[in-house]
Amino acid sequence: MRWSSLFASQAAVSSALIATTLFTLSASAQDRTTEQGEAQITDPNQECTPYYYAPVSAALAANQFPPIWTIATILPNDTNAQAKYQSIQSQIPNIQPNGSPASASTGDFSSFTYPSSDPDCWWTFDACTTPKLAGLPPDLAGVPEPDTLGYGFDDGPNCSHNAFYDFLSQNNQKATMFYIGSNVMDWPLEAQRALADGHEICVHTWSHKYTTTLTNEEVFAEFYYTVRFLIEHTIKLVAGVTPTCWRPPYGDVDDRVRAIAHALGLRTIIWQYDSNDWREGFNNVTVADVDQNYEYLISRAQNGTYATGGTIMLTHELNNFTMSEAMKFYTQLKAAFKYLVPMGVATNQTQPYVETNYSLPSFDQYISGTTTVTGGVPVATAGSSSSTGSGSSSGKTNSTGAASRALYDSFGILAAGAAFVGFSVKLLA
Ligand SMILES: *[C@@H]1O[C@H](CO)[C@@H](O)[C@H](O)[C@H]1NC(C)=O
Ligand SMILES: *[C@@H]1O[C@H](CO)[C@@H](O)[C@H](O)[C@H]1NC(C)=O
Ligand SMILES: *[C@@H]1O[C@H](CO)[C@@H](O)[C@H](O)[C@H]1NC(C)=O
Ligand SMILES: *[C@@H]1O[C@H](CO)[C@@H](O)[C@H](O)[C@H]1NC(C)=O
Ligand SMILES: *[C@@H]1O[C@H](CO)[C@@H](O)[C@H](O)[C@H]1NC(C)=O
Ligand SMILES: *[C@@H]1O[C@H](CO)[C@@H](O)[C@H](O)[C@H]1NC(C)=O
Ligand SMILES: *[C@@H]1O[C@H](CO)[C@@H](O)[C@H](O)[C@H]1NC(C)=O
Ligand SMILES: *[C@@H]1O[C@H](CO)[C@@H](O)[C@H](O)[C@H]1NC(C)=O
Repeated sequence: MRWSSLFASQAAVSSALIATTLFTLSASAQDRTTEQGEAQITDPNQECTPYYYAPVSAALAANQFPPIWTIATILPNDTNAQAKYQSIQSQIPNIQPNGSPASASTGDFSSFTYPSSDPDCWWTFDACTTPKLAGLPPDLAGVPEPDTLGYGFDDGPNCSHNAFYDFLSQNNQKATMFYIGSNVMDWPLEAQRALADGHEICVHTWSHKYTTTLTNEEVFAEFYYTVRFLIEHTIKLVAGVTPTCWRPPYGDVDDRVRAIAHALGLRTIIWQYDSNDWREGFNNVTVADVDQNYEYLISRAQNGTYATGGTIMLTHELNNFTMSEAMKFYTQLKAAFKYLVPMGVATNQTQPYVETNYSLPSFDQYISGTTTVTGGVPVATAGSSSSTGSGSSSGKTNSTGAASRALYDSFGILAAGAAFVGFSVKLLA
């Protein structure tokens, strides 16, 4: 997918232009300064007209962030980031970036040679989700709870998402939103809506590149400015939370990238099925293909494939089509699976953020109808030992225990065929 051209128009909007737009729009009685006001706009064209949000504009103007939609690097005078980066050096394995810098945008690894033994557990190569580097937890690829779909969407916030989020609210359905830092900068009030609606927010990097192609510092900065800076200064500015989970764009992750994520307190979440909704219109992928992928998952859920452990499918908050597909198949998914829950709920991550004053329901709470536990002290549930952590990397969850590990290990291959369209990796004999 040509992300650069897709996003070019957005990235080109300067704050000066946004300010002009705001002035024009203020005549039209829409409140585009608060989450609630923004959530009430129903015309997609109006939703997607840029607005001015002072905290983000000020932070951008003060050069506190890398430019949006470009590969993040540590800003030259950002001593906090430099110190943090230095502090995790010993945790980063000596693995070289994959492919050439050009692969960061295209994912073309055709001139890259890589040993067939997959020494780095490179997902793009063979859908590996169990790290080979000691000390790293396995990726979450399926969910442990039977007949359960880990329900989530990549690439948001999309400017036109109100119809979709309204739909989710009407169905009292929560999901995990994997947000791109640059999109949050563009659409901060839309990011705020996710939290207000009780969804779970995870990180989907700063600029949506193939992360295994990036240098250590770039990988760090893609996380750091999304997690620490973005979250403490942007999502935190906007939403006030610091996520503890991330999903690699295109699934492109290996042990080097996992190690940097882990050092920053981020769990890696992947998937087992790709709806290919994001490819519709590219590489001959049609609406019928995407429908078929949804239907395939639904028929498997109906025939008992997930009777002992649930699964995750890759779906997107990318555009009108991907959100419309999610709505079109919602009722069927609900009927085929017993439960559709956010990833954090599926794994009893009752404290999904570093901040201790925001909680998700446990799986049992959620399926008994308590779908939101926002603010206040975390609600303790029997067996849910995870709500006492402070957000540091230890003691937070038991979802990486031996039982879960065995479960995750048995998954991970199904999505491979679809995911590898367009890739070819040379093997060292
Ligand atoms: C870094 O430098 C830029 C440009 O010189 C300046 O605007 C910004 O305030 C500085 N940031 C910090 C954190 O010192
Ligand atoms: C799309 O389909 C056409 C006609 O079948 C074919 O020639 C072309 O190679 C296909 N393109 C891709 C990217 O698969
Ligand atoms: C469900 O259907 C799939 C696809 O046809 C098949 O591979 C699988 O064995 C079936 N599972 C069960 C439990 O029947
Ligand atoms: C968000 O969705 C709208 C409607 O489909 C689309 O026009 C727009 O390009 C999307 N935005 C991004 C950043 O992909
Ligand atoms: C898709 O676009 C149509 C036309 O603008 C709009 O009515 C509909 O609500 C949109 N659907 C979603 C899910 O955004
Ligand atoms: C949590 O605490 C922070 C300040 O530490 C505050 O900004 C935020 O609004 C609180 N969130 C909730 C949901 O109470
Ligand atoms: C979540 O908590 C419930 C209640 O304690 C427990 O039965 C279930 O096994 C837990 N699930 C996971 C995946 O940890
Ligand atoms: C966490 O999981 C391990 C391995 O399954 C188990 O031995 C341990 O008792 C669990 N800890 C808690 C607090 O549930």
